[in-house]
Amino acid sequence: MYWTKEQLSKTIKKTIGNRLLIIASNREPYIHIYKEGKVEFMRPVGGAVTALDPIMRVCKGTWVAYGGGSADRDVVNKNNEVMVPPDNPQYTLKRIWLNKDEENGYYYGYSNKAIWPLCHMAYTRPVFDEVEWAYYKIVNQKFADTILDIVGNKKAFVWIQDYHLFLLGKMLKEKNKKLLTAHFMHIPWPNPEAFRICPQKVEILQGLLTNDLLGFHIRYHCSNFMESVKLELEARVDTEKTSVTYGGHETLIRAFPISVDFEEISREADSEDVKKAANKLKEEFSIDQNEFVIVGLDRIDYTKGLIEKIQAIDRFFEKYPEYKGKVLFIQKGGLSRMHIGAYKDLNETLNNLVEEVNWKHSNEKWFPILFLRRHMTRKEILALYRLADACIVSPVHDGMNLVCKEFIAAKNDLNGVLLLSAYTGASRELADTVFVNPYDRENFAIAIKQAIELSKEEKMKRMENLRNVVKENNIYKWAGKFLEELKKV
Ligand code: F6P
Repeated sequence: MYWTKEQLSKTIKKTIGNRLLIIASNREPYIHIYKEGKVEFMRPVGGAVTALDPIMRVCKGTWVAYGGGSADRDVVNKNNEVMVPPDNPQYTLKRIWLNKDEENGYYYGYSNKAIWPLCHMAYTRPVFDEVEWAYYKIVNQKFADTILDIVGNKKAFVWIQDYHLFLLGKMLKEKNKKLLTAHFMHIPWPNPEAFRICPQKVEILQGLLTNDLLGFHIRYHCSNFMESVKLELEARVDTEKTSVTYGGHETLIRAFPISVDFEEISREADSEDVKKAANKLKEEFSIDQNEFVIVGLDRIDYTKGLIEKIQAIDRFFEKYPEYKGKVLFIQKGGLSRMHIGAYKDLNETLNNLVEEVNWKHSNEKWFPILFLRRHMTRKEILALYRLADACIVSPVHDGMNLVCKEFIAAKNDLNGVLLLSAYTGASRELADTVFVNPYDRENFAIAIKQAIELSKEEKMKRMENLRNVVKENNIYKWAGKFLEELKKV
């Protein structure tokens, strides 16, 4: 069956029925900011919001999230709600406010200095701090109180997202046993040996195991989770049924590979506006007609393998100098979590590295890497995909990665090659890519050359296959399959 908005809409009626639908995530789908005294809105980057916004447009529920934009408080009603998307209102966004200490302790601290590195195993040490953990609990409780207030004595399904809200399911069920809750993890679950170092591991597992359904991107993460439970708790782990029973409550554990709105991206990428934006970018970046353009779009995060990518590009030009002047790498890097030392350091290292590589290989007319730091609109991002001959997505570890799926969806003319890290969840589905190991500089450089030199027919055949996979396994299927599983609860 091919999943569409309409199909998802029917599934929602069948599975959730007359329950309220509430999504809870740290990051909000739309941020209001002040720019030159005027209120504007932005769509944050990040897999969770990219995937869930199209679903909420269909479901029409309430999305509860932290309001972090400079103008966020000024556009909400007295219940802290605002209808979004701001230019075409379709569902409710209810904002939660955090003070500086809460933001530091819960977001920058426990979520991103402890859990993020713990789960990604990218050789950045997690830091577990008691005070930050206390703030993590305070903020989870804030989310719980807000949601319980919205629900009142109605029936509801709460769909919790990601690693910022591990305790939310438990806090909700303690007050309202009738709630149906599910939690989806957008990042990897580490192997049990990695997870066991976490001082708060038991509370985290107990928090997650009060949900009725627990979703991960791939089966490997499900089994890692179940192995962690076996090691840490007195629970019944049923590997046949893939469920865990703890304290008399059963949680189903399932894999749901997340995706993008293929049709929408594909349509938008072909619009006149995006074509115009692509021409504008070509002019802005002085791209030569014959230049082979390779793009990358990542948050500046140590899991994204950015240093490894730049080093592989350096090696590529060392090994194959005949490509100097003929290939241009455009890397868009969005600043992220800059109050954390590891991110600040990475940003500086990257700046220096790009500068060195450009100095080493450039000539009067050409330099190899264009590192873009400015904010880009959705149209400009699609335009970047449009003008690219290839895209490199090379994280050292990633739960899924949606940039590669967006690139594929935008490539209507089949003219594009994808180089993809074998350590992304997406690599399990996207067989027709050129695989890279970001840790293997030499072979990474060779893979870049191979990708460039694939024949036009081969490139088109591969892209067609990739498009079929992403089209079939779109975001509506992800949501539909998730909700269908709720019927088994
Ligand atoms: O894949 C989704 C994701 O990686 C989230 O897990 C993460 O929260 C988000 O993208 C981006 O990070 P942030 O919300 O901290 O900007």
